[in-house]
Amino acid sequence: MSTELLAPRLRRARPSPTAAISDQVRALTAAGQDVINLGEGELDFETPAHIKQAGVDAIVQGDTKYTAVSGTAALKNAIIAKFGRENGLHYAPEEVIAGSGAKQLIFNALLATVAAGDEVIIPAPYWVSYPDMVALAEGESRLVPCAEDRGWKLRPADLAAAIGAKTRWLILNSPNNPTGAVYSRAELQELAAVLLDHPRVLVMADDIYEHICHAPGEFATLAQVEPRLRDRVLTVNGVSKGYSMTGWRLGYAGGPAWLVAAMQILQSQSTSNPSSISQAATVAALEQGLDFMDDWMATLARRRAIIMDCVNAIDGLDAAEPPGAFYVFANCSGIIGKKTPAGATLASDGDVAAYLLDAAHVATLQGSAFGASPYLRIAYAIDDRRLIEACERITRACRALR
Ligand SMILES: Cc1ncc(COP(=O)(O)O)c(C=O)c1O
Repeated sequence: MSTELLAPRLRRARPSPTAAISDQVRALTAAGQDVINLGEGELDFETPAHIKQAGVDAIVQGDTKYTAVSGTAALKNAIIAKFGRENGLHYAPEEVIAGSGAKQLIFNALLATVAAGDEVIIPAPYWVSYPDMVALAEGESRLVPCAEDRGWKLRPADLAAAIGAKTRWLILNSPNNPTGAVYSRAELQELAAVLLDHPRVLVMADDIYEHICHAPGEFATLAQVEPRLRDRVLTVNGVSKGYSMTGWRLGYAGGPAWLVAAMQILQSQSTSNPSSISQAATVAALEQGLDFMDDWMATLARRRAIIMDCVNAIDGLDAAEPPGAFYVFANCSGIIGKKTPAGATLASDGDVAAYLLDAAHVATLQGSAFGASPYLRIAYAIDDRRLIEACERITRACRALR
């Protein structure tokens, strides 16, 4: 059988490059290589013990059956309380939904609203999955480049110029993957001013890195900053990053009831409720506070300093300190054109990432996967000792270039 049997919509989507690098690392590790993975989009911290215990308790208590598709009443109440407490957003139960990761909610929101030919504005660099999700929904991505020297943020004038008759959505991700950029309240206000002139444009606020923000109090979200947009903003969040729960697969969103209802229909006909056990653990996560976060952020700040020192000491690599998330998006233009010891020319950021994997056994991701070249996304949320070792290996491999 061949790919001719695939639906056209699938031919437009690529497999996730982040999943591909993880597969490559697993294969090399299985073959006995000592690979250090700076490609993975997750924290290395354990899920906090009280959250794990809530999951165990759910299993022991027999909390192991189907639940309401959009989440248990207990989880919805915890989500509503979280949005109110942390974001000043007040939702009714029919305005919130839990799913199997923020990823599923973003996908379902797009699938529910994007028709063939509709456009989705995606500021670049972007999280790898957005354009492919838009393609699967048979829409068109309108990529809007954001400049490194403007902190990688979307300018209001560029947003205004990108909006047209076919625009369905703007996707705004702050703190940002891959750049770590964080939009201030004032910057969101300026974007909101543009959006107020375009009442048919929906906005996806992807806040999954909300808690991974180095500047205390800097995080803000669009629906909070401009309440007049509330009825067309889908605020997406989850426990993957903030609580180190990537494997539990639990995300949630708040937005207009009509959109949440449509997402619920898609979910009810595909995956149904997110895992009952993960839901119970998420209630504990959302209700019992973020006491561990100061320690986590101190650890991440230390690691960020390690990787920043390494990047900026290497001739040909350069990056500004990212205020959020746990990635450094390093400009590698000074390396492009150099030759490896084997005589190959590094012609693109993909070549640089492949060289680092091959020569240094360090996995990173090429900026082209995120819509900006030539850059490397370096995820630094790994053990300090391994991170230092990775830095030494990258430095040695870059020194060997001619
Ligand atoms: C920007 C962004 N949004 C959404 C997600 C998906 O998170 P989840 O694990 O909740 O599906 C990720 C995960 O890497 C991400 O980086």
